[in-house]
Amino acid sequence: MSTLGILISGRGSNMMALADACAEGRIRARVGLVLSNVAGAPGLAEAGRRGIETLVIDHRASRTRDEHDGKVAQALRESRVTLVCLAGYMRLLGPGFVKAFEGRLMNIHPSLLPAFPGLDAQRQALEHGVKVSGATVHYVNESLDAGPIILQAAVPVEPDDTEETLSARILEQEHRIYPEAVSLHVDNRLRIEGRQVRVTGR
Ligand code: GAR
Repeated sequence: MSTLGILISGRGSNMMALADACAEGRIRARVGLVLSNVAGAPGLAEAGRRGIETLVIDHRASRTRDEHDGKVAQALRESRVTLVCLAGYMRLLGPGFVKAFEGRLMNIHPSLLPAFPGLDAQRQALEHGVKVSGATVHYVNESLDAGPIILQAAVPVEPDDTEETLSARILEQEHRIYPEAVSLHVDNRLRIEGRQVRVTGR
């Protein structure tokens, strides 16, 4: 059975969506570790309530990104993690970490990539005036929010949307497509071919 390691920095609602899908058998995996770079991240308490092992590795305790990434990688290996899911993890992971977990490292982003990578994607979408936005689950490569796309879901942008209302509409889709993408991965139904991620039959 696959073991997920979920990296968070805050609320952890995507982590909970993944953990609940595992508990309900919608993902054939267990969550081996929820790891945060932020000690007070609310998601840690939620993971604890679900009986999931949690760990804080504060990035400020490391002098370099490589040093921090090395500690995170070590913790994931100790928990025998087979798939790493970034879920609102607001730290860039360096090329060494990405290479070590190549093809086993996913992220969820609140826009239809390649539009609006980076921080505040929902605000970027509103400021740009797009009429449709959404969520993207992708494998992580060495470039920010640019790895091969697994699943996307679109939502309308309404004329009176605020960052909060648009974020909430997108989040609902995040909670749907992240478990779906992880389930496809752990069932060995995803093939990465260059930029394409092919979904194969059962
Ligand atoms: C989610 O909307 C996620 O897509 C976004 O942060 C939020 C975390 O919420 N991630 C990024 O913007 C990554 N660049 P959560 O902690 O409740 O899952």
